[in-house]
Amino acid sequence: MVKIAPSILSANVLRFEDEIEALKKGGADYIHFDVMDGYFVPNITFGPQILKQAKSSINIPYDVHLMVEKPSIFIPWYAKAGADIITFHVEIKEEIISNIELIKSFGLKAGLSLKPDTDIDAIKPYIDMIDLILVMSVNPGFGGQKFNENTPNKIRQIKEMIGNRKILVEVDGGINNDTAKLCIDSGVDILVAGTSVFKDNNYDKNIKELKGE
Ligand code: DX5
Ligand code: ZN
Repeated sequence: MVKIAPSILSANVLRFEDEIEALKKGGADYIHFDVMDGYFVPNITFGPQILKQAKSSINIPYDVHLMVEKPSIFIPWYAKAGADIITFHVEIKEEIISNIELIKSFGLKAGLSLKPDTDIDAIKPYIDMIDLILVMSVNPGFGGQKFNENTPNKIRQIKEMIGNRKILVEVDGGINNDTAKLCIDSGVDILVAGTSVFKDNNYDKNIKELKGE
């Protein structure tokens, strides 16, 4: 069964605690926590203090997506604040291996993400070190964008590359009931969804529909 990671980028930030609580009650498997540095992407989001308070209040796995140019600075902050999975982008200029090792040094799951235009070969050299691959189906930076139609195909190719390794495949951006189905049919393990979960107050219904229930 596919897992759902609602992206709190679309939550009401003034009611954060209630929002996360409602997502947990509604059947969310993870909370997708988008971190932006204003440099890797033209937007800024949530600092580690917010994660720390969320984690101490609501116990659910926190899936941290770092859209930052220098993960080596950010990883310790978010690891100490309570992240369960930390994912960063393969397009950064910093060294990849030492950042994966840094995440692992905190005992956390490490993920690598790729933008829609990045070839899956970019992930290959690190495949035996990672726990998760986050396939971006929009250009990172903002919620509410249109799903890139090549994504289901890319997910299939990534699944083939993974073979029998234990690596989760997660997709992020433009996920609604239709695009969710395409990704599920391609074998994705986790759907990130912002707009489609928060479109109205029925988080449980929206999560169920994304799962195809
Ligand atoms: C985009 C973020 C996504 C975003 C998805 O940069 O990484 O997690 O919140 O939002 P929707 O589901 O609205 O496309
Ligand atoms: Zn994200």
